[in-house]
Amino acid sequence: MRASCVLFTTLVALAAYYVYIPLPGSVTDPWKLMMLDAVFRGTQQVSNLIHFLGLGHHMLVLNFIIVSFGHKRAWSTAQVKVTDTDFDGVEVRVFEGSTGPEEPLKRGIIYIHGGGWALASAKIKYYDELCIVMAEELNAVIISIEYRLVPKVFFPAQVEDVVRSTNYFLQPEVLKKYSVDPSRVAVSGDSAGGNLAAALVQQFHQDPSLRSKIKLQALVYPVLQALDFNTPSYQQNANTPILPRHVMIKYWVEYLQGSQDFVEALIVNNHTSLDVEEATALRARLNWTSLLPTSITRDYKPVQPASGNARILQEMPQLLDVRSAPLLADQKVLRHLPKTYILTCEHDILRDDGIMYAKRLESAGVDVTLDHFEDGFHGCMIFTSWPTDFSVGIRTRNSYFKWLDQNL
Ligand SMILES: *[C@@H]1O[C@H](CO)[C@@H](O)[C@H](O)[C@H]1NC(C)=O
Ligand SMILES: *[C@@H]1O[C@H](CO)[C@@H](O)[C@H](O)[C@H]1NC(C)=O
Repeated sequence: MRASCVLFTTLVALAAYYVYIPLPGSVTDPWKLMMLDAVFRGTQQVSNLIHFLGLGHHMLVLNFIIVSFGHKRAWSTAQVKVTDTDFDGVEVRVFEGSTGPEEPLKRGIIYIHGGGWALASAKIKYYDELCIVMAEELNAVIISIEYRLVPKVFFPAQVEDVVRSTNYFLQPEVLKKYSVDPSRVAVSGDSAGGNLAAALVQQFHQDPSLRSKIKLQALVYPVLQALDFNTPSYQQNANTPILPRHVMIKYWVEYLQGSQDFVEALIVNNHTSLDVEEATALRARLNWTSLLPTSITRDYKPVQPASGNARILQEMPQLLDVRSAPLLADQKVLRHLPKTYILTCEHDILRDDGIMYAKRLESAGVDVTLDHFEDGFHGCMIFTSWPTDFSVGIRTRNSYFKWLDQNL
């Protein structure tokens, strides 16, 4: 009896030690966030173990677990018709809201899910629910793209998938088939999906014949650059769930097919040290002095080593490619971009990517709404239902829907 009591107490203490992480007081529902983080961390560790034992690639294993637990069949509701199909060879899940009598044509939203270019799916519960509610509340047609993932394909295949399926959707006869108003189409995505959405919109807007086809872009805590992993938000949130810095950098390295041996060097910005010429020209496009408010930069200590490791960019030049890092695009490209919404969270390494992109777009003359959540954490917008429901999840989602409703 006593022994089992001691064992039980030890196990509880160990579990608490595993779950507990210090979090800032201003973050939403801290205990729930710790639990969510512990589950995600545990799943990642199991996947790493399976990888280590040579039984499968860790990203495949992790995604297998996520998709098996969360998979949802295409299931229509009373208000929304849900179908799985493909657009020019790229799988998509289509959500069609019902048409009101006065509005025969609906608004269209191309949605690109997040997950580090390697995880999740348009068909898991979280994204399926988001798109159903979006189709219903906005009375719109949502195209949720099931682009191919790492390690089956790597950069730029993910970009090509979203470009190809969007091109297909924007054909007049396809828009007509889905009763979509050609002048009211938006592109949107969260996290790595926000990265792909931003890259897609930049590509379209370089082509004058396609330029007019996208009315607006809505980017939710997007990934936008890999030049500097020590922006103020990267430093402040290096260990914040759901996306600690070293995990984000591993996603980058996998996406660009680099060596994981570089992760530690990337953490200290050795890939873009001051003696690396390719980075020097681009640094002005990520100038925190002019792009971030002084409330953020007041006590900031940038990390810009004088010398680093030139081999990293030789092996992964795509770290500075605008199709992977849309924040680094030329001002001439930004000038042509459509009206933009960017949602950022305070407790997120990617906060400053979003703020800097908003500022650059604004300076280029684009109409930008920056919607910042002081108690938000990375990924919160998809966590809206039990047991992973967060008040900031509901608030971010409502705010995002409201902007789309008023602007699309
Ligand atoms: C960043 O902006 C500041 C203030 O506008 C300017 O003095 C500085 O030269 C800029 N740095 C780079 C690398 O462009
Ligand atoms: C970064 O580069 C410097 C200079 O080459 C080197 O001394 C240091 O060990 C590197 N740091 C890491 C973490 O790779």
